[in-house]
Amino acid sequence: MSNFNINDIRKQFPVLDQQVYGKPLVYFDNAATTQKPLCVIERERDYYLHENCNIHRGVHYLSQMATEAYENARKTVAQFINARQAQEIVFTRGTTESLNLLATSLGQLLVNEGDKVVVSAMEHHSNMVPWQQFLDRINRIEADRINRMDNLLVIRMDKNGVLDLNHYEELLKQRPKIVSIAHISNTLGTVNPIKEMIAMAHKYNIPVVIDGAQSMAHQVIDVQDLDCDFYVFSGHKMYAPMGIGGLYGKMEWLEKMPPYQFGGEMVDTVSFEKTTFNKVPFKFEAGTPNVGAALGLETAVKFIQSFDRQEVEAYEDELLRYATEKLSSIEGMHFIGQAPKRNGLISFVIDGIHPYDLGTIIDKMGVAVRTGHHCAEPVMTFFGIPGTVRASFAMYNTKEEIDIFVKAVNRAATMLR
Ligand SMILES: Cc1ncc(COP(=O)(O)O)c(C=O)c1O
Repeated sequence: MSNFNINDIRKQFPVLDQQVYGKPLVYFDNAATTQKPLCVIERERDYYLHENCNIHRGVHYLSQMATEAYENARKTVAQFINARQAQEIVFTRGTTESLNLLATSLGQLLVNEGDKVVVSAMEHHSNMVPWQQFLDRINRIEADRINRMDNLLVIRMDKNGVLDLNHYEELLKQRPKIVSIAHISNTLGTVNPIKEMIAMAHKYNIPVVIDGAQSMAHQVIDVQDLDCDFYVFSGHKMYAPMGIGGLYGKMEWLEKMPPYQFGGEMVDTVSFEKTTFNKVPFKFEAGTPNVGAALGLETAVKFIQSFDRQEVEAYEDELLRYATEKLSSIEGMHFIGQAPKRNGLISFVIDGIHPYDLGTIIDKMGVAVRTGHHCAEPVMTFFGIPGTVRASFAMYNTKEEIDIFVKAVNRAATMLR
């Protein structure tokens, strides 16, 4: 029997049950970060109350317990995305750190002067700037040089926010060394056909990195079925604490890649003459990790797994459909991102109204949305707008909240016109 009961779920997120400016909070900024259920908060608290210890290096009881718990968390995350082995999960601070690790380490392994990397037109800055800066470095391009696009190839999209796969095929023919694309766009909500895109790149033997920041909480991820080479994510966008996330990589790549950061934990033997490195994944986890947050991440994974994933996805899709329908009736409404396959969020602008003004006014009515470029400035440039209002949903949101939100947008738009 289904255990998806919205009232029970909301009880697990006490932060939702509060008033802001004297109005009940409507939290629609889940693409920025989700709220955390009690079980996650308690798991992290419990760690600091009873288990806190540095891991991997202590011979004493607490250290061994903490090490075991941390390595079990790795196993849980690996199973969650169907990795072949736990060692294919590297813990990081989140998507940004995972992508910087890849741009540096995979970049160093595969990319030489003059080589190309493919990203898409809808990437978050985190999946664009690290590649751009890496390419600039190896090509010794001055920071102020304008014509840098020779090396960073960008898959075009259309006005609905759908990637042009013919253009992608053209770019692949230029034999780039790496493809790195978002699974779900954080500004447009587009769900990209990544399985197909991965297969297309593999025909040219090009490895593919998937930015899964926006997908882990909403979709079932099976890295073996996708056959992606890397899949990166942030815990805090999937009900887990901030400061923890991960990088899945196929073992054959992780073994070949050089370390990203250096220091304790990631070494095997050290002398002033020479250092050898630890095995995967420890080679990529220099220094003391965020153990408490990793245990919180494990609990968040179990929390997500405690529901029927298809049921949650269908519920969130229904929220999206309902919100789109209700917002459509507002005069001057333009949705930014109208791909047939979207997930979790709506971005929009209203004629003659700055998104920031709208966001500020509805905040006073208790509604939390994100306004601005959402760390994807090139997307805003493409649409010729300064930013959007973005409402993003999680499993604890309701249609009643959408009604409050739409009423607030309507009132604010009337005030601002
Ligand atoms: C698609 C996408 N990629 C990367 C990031 C960066 O994630 P983090 O800030 O957790 O490192 C985000 C965050 O909004 C995102 O939505």
